[in-house]
Amino acid sequence: MDRYVVIGNPVAHSRSPEIHARFARQTGEAIAYERLLVEPGDFARAAREFFASGGRGANVTLPFKVDAFAFAKERTARAGQAGAVNTLAMRVGAILGDNTDGAGLVRDLTANLGLTLAGTRILLLGAGGAARGVVGPLLALSPAMLVIANRTRERARELARAFGAAGRVEGVGFEAMGEGFDLVVNATSASTRGEPLALPAGLFARGATAYDMAYGAAALPFLEGARAAGARASDGLGMLVEQAAESFLLWRGKRPETAAVIAALRAA
Ligand code: ATR
Repeated sequence: MDRYVVIGNPVAHSRSPEIHARFARQTGEAIAYERLLVEPGDFARAAREFFASGGRGANVTLPFKVDAFAFAKERTARAGQAGAVNTLAMRVGAILGDNTDGAGLVRDLTANLGLTLAGTRILLLGAGGAARGVVGPLLALSPAMLVIANRTRERARELARAFGAAGRVEGVGFEAMGEGFDLVVNATSASTRGEPLALPAGLFARGATAYDMAYGAAALPFLEGARAAGARASDGLGMLVEQAAESFLLWRGKRPETAAVIAALRAA
């Protein structure tokens, strides 16, 4: 059987094995998919060993997405734009690095939540690795404006500068994030650290959507605040399943149906 892994630290909590097992059953693909815990600093050795022993592909999660970028001999354009790799695939002669996070977010927003984002005002909270991976795909939706707001203003400015040629994007500090957004995406790690974000009044336009790229309990503080302010709120479980579906497509050449898998994970 073709072998796949998710590499991370920690990785015991990862739902990727369950998601890919469901994709495999649904598409009739015979694959084995397991978790691989790797120590910080040991990514390249562990990945080399996995592929040398016949492994076909890997998902890469925190904190190794930049290590995976360096490890990949060839990279897709969207991985290059993100500066990070979440999917490795054995290709003839070389290991390909891809990044399916942004595509996963966009697919959840548009196909699952039914949002039309062309001409809208989007706010992205955070300027770390998670935020960087989704800036290009969000700009590709042609919003009227994408504002990146970060606690450390300079990081937001740098990120906006890096994508200035890709659309209308501006980087600001939290104090200047503005108001009246149709979509607010939380890509900070504040809630996973138990440090709730204080959102200014007026942040959300009428009918706005709040989206947290984290899922489950970690997303609750942000989403509860957003609901109290009148926004529709979604956690990132759909993004998780959609980025996995993009990886599965890269590995197996088949795109799995995601709706039933998202529903099953929610129910579990
Ligand atoms: P990741 O890869 O998850 O994005 P990261 O690169 O460490 O991790 O980035 C974490 C992001 O969450 C940053 O935007 C960080 O803001 P700073 O650049 O100012 O550090 C943001 N963040 C973390 N804790 C936060 C908090 N309590 N309030 C606001 N932003 C926070």
